[in-house]
Amino acid sequence: MARTLTILTSTIFMFFIFSTLAAAKSARFSRSLSPTSIGLKKEKLSHLRFYFHDIVSGQNPTAIKVAEAETTKNSSTLFGATVMIDDPLTVGPKITSKLIGRAQGIYASASQTDTGLLMVMNFAFLEGKHNGSTLSVLGRNKVFSTVRELPIVGGSGVFRFARGYAQARTHWFDLKTGDAIVEYNVDVRPFALSREEALTKWN
Ligand SMILES: *[C@@H]1O[C@H](CO)[C@@H](O)[C@H](O)[C@H]1NC(C)=O
Ligand SMILES: *[C@@H]1O[C@H](CO)[C@@H](O)[C@H](O)[C@H]1NC(C)=O
Repeated sequence: MARTLTILTSTIFMFFIFSTLAAAKSARFSRSLSPTSIGLKKEKLSHLRFYFHDIVSGQNPTAIKVAEAETTKNSSTLFGATVMIDDPLTVGPKITSKLIGRAQGIYASASQTDTGLLMVMNFAFLEGKHNGSTLSVLGRNKVFSTVRELPIVGGSGVFRFARGYAQARTHWFDLKTGDAIVEYNVDVRPFALSREEALTKWN
Protein backbone atom coordinates (compact mmCIF):
# COMPACT_ATOMS: atom_id res chain seq x y z
CA MET A 1 0.00 0.00 0.00
CA ALA A 2 2.74 2.40 1.05
CA ARG A 3 4.76 1.34 -2.03
CA THR A 4 1.79 2.00 -4.35
CA LEU A 5 1.38 5.40 -2.78
CA THR A 6 5.08 6.22 -3.34
CA ILE A 7 4.86 5.19 -7.00
CA LEU A 8 1.69 7.23 -7.41
CA THR A 9 3.24 10.26 -5.74
CA SER A 10 6.37 10.11 -7.86
CA THR A 11 4.29 9.66 -11.03
CA ILE A 12 2.27 12.74 -10.16
CA PHE A 13 5.48 14.58 -9.35
CA MET A 14 7.06 13.63 -12.69
CA PHE A 15 3.89 14.69 -14.51
CA PHE A 16 4.02 18.00 -12.71
CA ILE A 17 7.68 18.56 -13.70
CA PHE A 18 7.02 17.74 -17.36
CA SER A 19 3.94 19.93 -17.61
CA THR A 20 5.84 22.81 -15.98
CA LEU A 21 8.63 22.38 -18.53
CA ALA A 22 6.13 22.25 -21.39
CA ALA A 23 4.38 25.37 -20.12
CA ALA A 24 7.68 27.19 -19.80
CA LYS A 25 8.49 26.26 -23.37
CA SER A 26 5.20 27.50 -24.80
CA ALA A 27 5.40 30.69 -22.69
CA ARG A 28 8.59 31.82 -24.47
CA PHE A 29 7.80 35.03 -26.26
CA SER A 30 10.69 35.10 -28.69
CA ARG A 31 12.31 32.67 -31.01
CA SER A 32 14.89 32.86 -33.71
CA LEU A 33 13.78 32.69 -37.31
CA SER A 34 15.82 31.76 -40.29
CA PRO A 35 15.87 34.88 -42.50
CA THR A 36 15.04 32.85 -45.60
CA SER A 37 11.90 31.37 -43.98
CA ILE A 38 10.27 34.82 -44.07
CA GLY A 39 11.58 35.70 -47.50
CA LEU A 40 14.62 37.71 -46.53
CA LYS A 41 17.56 37.30 -48.78
CA LYS A 42 20.95 36.44 -47.46
CA GLU A 43 22.58 39.42 -45.81
CA LYS A 44 24.81 41.52 -47.99
CA LEU A 45 27.37 44.08 -46.99
CA SER A 46 27.01 47.50 -48.57
CA HIS A 47 29.75 50.05 -48.78
CA LEU A 48 28.93 53.70 -49.37
CA ARG A 49 31.28 56.60 -49.79
CA PHE A 50 30.28 60.23 -49.97
CA TYR A 51 31.26 63.73 -48.90
CA PHE A 52 29.46 65.70 -46.21
CA HIS A 53 29.39 69.50 -46.56
CA ASP A 54 29.02 71.32 -43.27
CA ILE A 55 28.51 74.97 -44.19
CA VAL A 56 28.31 77.26 -41.17
CA SER A 57 29.22 80.56 -42.86
CA GLY A 58 27.78 82.75 -45.60
CA GLN A 59 24.26 83.48 -46.79
CA ASN A 60 23.05 79.90 -46.94
CA PRO A 61 24.46 77.92 -44.04
CA THR A 62 23.44 74.25 -43.82
CA ALA A 63 24.48 73.99 -40.16
CA ILE A 64 22.86 76.42 -37.71
CA LYS A 65 23.47 76.79 -34.00
CA VAL A 66 20.08 76.43 -32.31
CA ALA A 67 21.06 76.35 -28.63
CA GLU A 68 23.88 76.86 -26.20
CA ALA A 69 24.39 77.19 -22.44
CA GLU A 70 25.28 80.41 -20.65
CA THR A 71 28.73 78.95 -20.08
CA THR A 72 29.27 77.71 -23.66
CA LYS A 73 31.26 80.76 -24.77
CA ASN A 74 33.59 80.36 -21.78
CA SER A 75 34.25 76.71 -22.52
CA SER A 76 37.33 75.79 -24.56
CA THR A 77 35.26 72.98 -26.14
CA LEU A 78 32.08 75.10 -26.55
CA PHE A 79 30.38 72.60 -24.28
CA GLY A 80 26.63 72.72 -24.81
CA ALA A 81 26.62 74.26 -28.29
CA THR A 82 23.92 72.51 -30.31
CA VAL A 83 23.76 72.69 -34.09
CA MET A 84 20.97 71.57 -36.41
CA ILE A 85 22.15 70.41 -39.82
CA ASP A 86 20.75 69.73 -43.26
CA ASP A 87 24.08 69.06 -44.94
CA PRO A 88 24.38 68.03 -48.59
CA LEU A 89 26.02 64.68 -49.33
CA THR A 90 27.80 64.48 -52.65
CA VAL A 91 29.63 61.81 -54.65
CA GLY A 92 32.85 63.80 -54.83
CA PRO A 93 34.51 66.31 -52.53
CA LYS A 94 33.30 69.30 -54.59
CA ILE A 95 29.96 70.80 -53.57
CA THR A 96 29.11 70.94 -57.28
CA SER A 97 29.49 67.19 -57.70
CA LYS A 98 26.38 64.97 -57.83
CA LEU A 99 24.08 65.28 -54.81
CA ILE A 100 23.17 61.83 -53.46
CA GLY A 101 21.47 62.74 -50.20
CA ARG A 102 21.39 64.93 -47.12
CA ALA A 103 22.58 64.51 -43.55
CA GLN A 104 19.77 65.78 -41.35
CA GLY A 105 20.02 65.96 -37.60
CA ILE A 106 21.88 67.48 -34.70
CA TYR A 107 25.43 67.66 -33.45
CA ALA A 108 26.33 69.05 -30.06
CA SER A 109 29.49 69.60 -28.06
CA ALA A 110 29.23 66.91 -25.40
CA SER A 111 32.73 66.97 -23.89
CA GLN A 112 34.20 69.49 -21.46
CA THR A 113 37.78 68.37 -22.03
CA ASP A 114 38.20 67.62 -25.74
CA THR A 115 36.31 68.24 -28.94
CA GLY A 116 33.84 65.39 -28.84
CA LEU A 117 30.53 65.87 -30.57
CA LEU A 118 27.40 63.88 -29.99
CA MET A 119 25.96 63.23 -33.45
CA VAL A 120 22.36 62.19 -33.99
CA MET A 121 21.47 62.28 -37.66
CA ASN A 122 19.85 60.53 -40.56
CA PHE A 123 21.45 60.13 -43.94
CA ALA A 124 18.46 60.63 -46.24
CA PHE A 125 19.36 59.28 -49.68
CA LEU A 126 18.01 60.78 -52.90
CA GLU A 127 19.67 58.77 -55.62
CA GLY A 128 18.85 55.62 -57.59
CA LYS A 129 17.81 52.51 -55.64
CA HIS A 130 18.64 54.28 -52.38
CA ASN A 131 16.24 57.15 -53.09
CA GLY A 132 13.88 57.53 -50.11
CA SER A 133 15.88 55.20 -47.86
CA THR A 134 17.66 56.35 -44.72
CA LEU A 135 20.45 55.33 -42.39
CA SER A 136 20.48 56.51 -38.77
CA VAL A 137 23.71 57.50 -37.05
CA LEU A 138 24.20 57.90 -33.32
CA GLY A 139 27.74 58.34 -32.14
CA ARG A 140 30.66 60.31 -30.83
CA ASN A 141 32.71 62.40 -33.21
CA LYS A 142 36.12 63.60 -32.05
CA VAL A 143 36.43 65.98 -34.97
CA PHE A 144 40.17 66.59 -34.64
CA SER A 145 41.03 62.89 -34.84
CA THR A 146 42.10 61.62 -38.27
CA VAL A 147 39.45 58.89 -38.38
CA ARG A 148 36.30 58.86 -36.31
CA GLU A 149 34.02 55.86 -36.10
CA LEU A 150 30.29 56.34 -35.68
CA PRO A 151 27.74 53.53 -35.26
CA ILE A 152 24.93 53.08 -37.77
CA VAL A 153 22.05 52.08 -35.54
CA GLY A 154 19.32 51.42 -38.08
CA GLY A 155 17.77 52.26 -41.40
CA SER A 156 14.67 52.34 -43.54
CA GLY A 157 13.74 51.33 -47.08
CA VAL A 158 16.53 49.30 -48.66
CA PHE A 159 18.37 49.69 -45.36
CA ARG A 160 15.75 48.05 -43.13
CA PHE A 161 17.42 46.19 -40.28
CA ALA A 162 20.69 47.93 -41.14
CA ARG A 163 23.54 48.02 -38.73
CA GLY A 164 27.13 48.96 -39.28
CA TYR A 165 29.54 51.80 -38.88
CA ALA A 166 30.70 54.96 -40.58
CA GLN A 167 34.23 56.27 -40.69
CA ALA A 168 34.58 60.03 -40.98
CA ARG A 169 37.72 61.77 -42.20
CA THR A 170 38.04 65.54 -42.53
CA HIS A 171 38.80 66.29 -46.16
CA TRP A 172 38.97 70.05 -45.84
CA PHE A 173 38.47 72.47 -42.97
CA ASP A 174 38.48 76.27 -43.00
CA LEU A 175 39.73 77.49 -39.62
CA LYS A 176 38.43 81.01 -40.29
CA THR A 177 34.82 80.15 -41.12
CA GLY A 178 34.47 76.69 -39.59
CA ASP A 179 33.18 75.24 -42.87
CA ALA A 180 34.18 71.63 -43.38
CA ILE A 181 34.03 68.83 -45.93
CA VAL A 182 34.10 65.37 -44.41
CA GLU A 183 34.58 62.09 -46.25
CA TYR A 184 32.28 59.34 -44.99
CA ASN A 185 32.85 55.65 -45.62
CA VAL A 186 29.93 53.57 -44.47
CA ASP A 187 29.73 49.79 -44.14
CA VAL A 188 26.27 48.40 -43.46
CA ARG A 189 24.59 45.04 -43.47
CA PRO A 190 21.02 45.49 -44.65
CA PHE A 191 18.59 42.75 -45.50
CA ALA A 192 17.98 43.30 -49.18
CA LEU A 193 14.20 43.19 -49.29
CA SER A 194 12.02 45.51 -51.31
CA ARG A 195 8.74 46.88 -49.97
CA GLU A 196 6.84 44.85 -52.58
CA GLU A 197 8.62 41.64 -51.56
CA ALA A 198 7.90 42.39 -47.91
CA LEU A 199 4.20 42.99 -48.56
CA THR A 200 3.72 39.78 -50.55
CA LYS A 201 5.54 37.75 -47.92
CA TRP A 202 3.78 39.16 -44.91
CA ASN A 203 0.21 39.87 -46.07
C1 LIG B 1 32.68 83.96 -18.67
O1 LIG B 1 33.96 84.52 -18.54
C2 LIG B 1 33.91 85.93 -18.24
C3 LIG B 1 35.33 86.46 -18.27
O2 LIG B 1 36.21 85.62 -17.57
C4 LIG B 1 33.21 86.16 -16.90
O3 LIG B 1 33.13 87.53 -16.61
C5 LIG B 1 31.82 85.59 -16.97
O4 LIG B 1 31.17 85.66 -15.71
C6 LIG B 1 31.83 84.11 -17.42
N1 LIG B 1 30.48 83.66 -17.67
C7 LIG B 1 30.00 82.53 -17.17
C8 LIG B 1 28.54 82.27 -17.50
O5 LIG B 1 30.64 81.74 -16.52
C1 LIG C 1 13.52 60.29 -55.73
O1 LIG C 1 12.19 60.05 -55.33
C2 LIG C 1 11.37 61.20 -55.39
C3 LIG C 1 10.02 60.84 -54.78
O2 LIG C 1 9.57 59.61 -55.23
C4 LIG C 1 11.26 61.65 -56.84
O3 LIG C 1 10.45 62.80 -56.93
C5 LIG C 1 12.65 61.96 -57.37
O4 LIG C 1 12.61 62.31 -58.70
C6 LIG C 1 13.57 60.77 -57.16
N1 LIG C 1 14.93 61.16 -57.52
C7 LIG C 1 15.73 60.43 -58.29
C8 LIG C 1 17.07 60.99 -58.55
O5 LIG C 1 15.39 59.37 -58.74
